[in-house]
Amino acid sequence: TDLNAFIDELPKAELHVHIEGTLEPELMFALAERNGIALPYGSVEELRAAYSFKNLQEFLDLYYQGAQVLITRQDFYDLTMAYLKRAHADRVLHTEIFFDPQTHTERGIAFETVLDGITTALSDAAHELGLTSELILCFLRHLSEDDAIATYEMALPHRDRIAGFGLDSSEKGHPPAKFERVFTRVRADGFKVVAHAGEEGPPEYVRDALDLLKVDRIDHGNRALEDSALVERLAREAMPLTVCPLSNLSLAVVTDLADHPLRQMLDAGLVATLNSDDPAYFGGYVNQNYKETQSALSLTKDELALLARNSLTASFASPERKAELL
Ligand code: HPA
Ligand code: ZN
Repeated sequence: TDLNAFIDELPKAELHVHIEGTLEPELMFALAERNGIALPYGSVEELRAAYSFKNLQEFLDLYYQGAQVLITRQDFYDLTMAYLKRAHADRVLHTEIFFDPQTHTERGIAFETVLDGITTALSDAAHELGLTSELILCFLRHLSEDDAIATYEMALPHRDRIAGFGLDSSEKGHPPAKFERVFTRVRADGFKVVAHAGEEGPPEYVRDALDLLKVDRIDHGNRALEDSALVERLAREAMPLTVCPLSNLSLAVVTDLADHPLRQMLDAGLVATLNSDDPAYFGGYVNQNYKETQSALSLTKDELALLARNSLTASFASPERKAELL
């Protein structure tokens, strides 16, 4: 349609994408073979057929299992470059990528192997495609705060390559309060702070991400809509939300895109952005998220342009880069 062409051409940023969640089944099989790792699936088709999730945890179990094929610096480079090329095709001008080092260091992969592979691809894409990026290290919330602190200390010598820190993995039972101390340090050291909140967890987790972690953006934020005072606050503070509709549909956070809270978010004047989260697992990169949401919620051209503009303004790009983007 006319609007799909408009979406394809819209200059945009992607602010919520887990690099491990961009591992396409084809690349997973290729890396398994390259590294001599046996996968519990006979084929790409069999693996794709397993991508049917009742909730966040069912997805996370497969996502962590899939990440085990990532061993060498070259593996992390290939993973990242494949995503960057795909994002470039969606007219993503700037991207902010999450990575989960604990998933790898727990398996004996060096932090530097992960970081060097990813950041070499980021720098090649900046030169070759003009696609700029920032990197956000996510702590796994199912692990302890002490484990997050140890990971933070591993990252500090590389602080010039990391823009900020986030919080992902199993939300229920792992509230923001569990990570208050580490994020106090992160902020004092001058990094940006984000956190997944209100994906499966209650509105209180969104409020605590604001009050205790003092986040610069909320990742997801869907369940904030259950609390009208919280919605008013998010609007007043112009707090950006990185919304991921196809992820929400895949993980049964919503049962139908027509019921997606993005409609209420826009009507309440919240600074919403659209993102792919884990596109290899959820069936679509960023433009597919725009297109399916447009169709389900009858988003107008102006609303689509606003969502794309929000993604650029809410980014952590340098002031110089932001001036070019806007
Ligand atoms: N939620 C929480 N943790 C995650 C996700 C998500 O959608 N994707 C990758 N890690
Ligand atoms: Zn996410």
